[in-house]
Amino acid sequence: MHENIARVLFSAEQIQTRVRELGRELNERLGDREDVVILGLLKGSVLFLADLVRSIDRPVKLDFAWVSSYGAGTESSGSVDLKVFPDGDLSRATVVVVDDILDTGRTLHAVKERLRRNYAAAEVQTCVLLDKQGRRAFPMEPDFAGFQVENVFVVGYGLDYGDRYRNLPYIGVLDDRRS
Ligand code: PRP
Repeated sequence: MHENIARVLFSAEQIQTRVRELGRELNERLGDREDVVILGLLKGSVLFLADLVRSIDRPVKLDFAWVSSYGAGTESSGSVDLKVFPDGDLSRATVVVVDDILDTGRTLHAVKERLRRNYAAAEVQTCVLLDKQGRRAFPMEPDFAGFQVENVFVVGYGLDYGDRYRNLPYIGVLDDRRS
């Protein structure tokens, strides 16, 4: 364990087991849909997405999007900007938005709306590894969630503090020094 991690919340083994389950569940619920786009929100989703897609037993497309939040307002979508790479045609696609954590819900709520309105996505589903349900400020419930998590600051497996710790294979809580 890294010296600045106070405790491990989910070990690498627990994560791998749950992510494989999620991939299988997602695969089953996708039924016979043919045009499936797995859309990762940068940067936090990258590790989760890489593992998740290896348990989805069908040919899917992978895309990534940058989400920029600006302002601390509570406006439901005007404060989030979404840029999908590449800017392809999603009008026949089932888009599965993948993110590391659902916190207030601001990001995913806005991303879903933007995908429908600006990108004319046919269907949007959401899949997060961690769900901090107690923190919700926007109406947003994930279609798929790996683990419920209490209101603590978590890092690892994509989650950062000051853009570091994303590469930890487990998810942990930083100690108070946060160095
Ligand atoms: C984090 C996380 C989610 C979002 C969740 O992203 O990856 O996208 O916050 O919070 P919310 O539910 O309150 O909107 P961040 O902006 O830190 O970017 P990152 O993915 O690059 O770490």
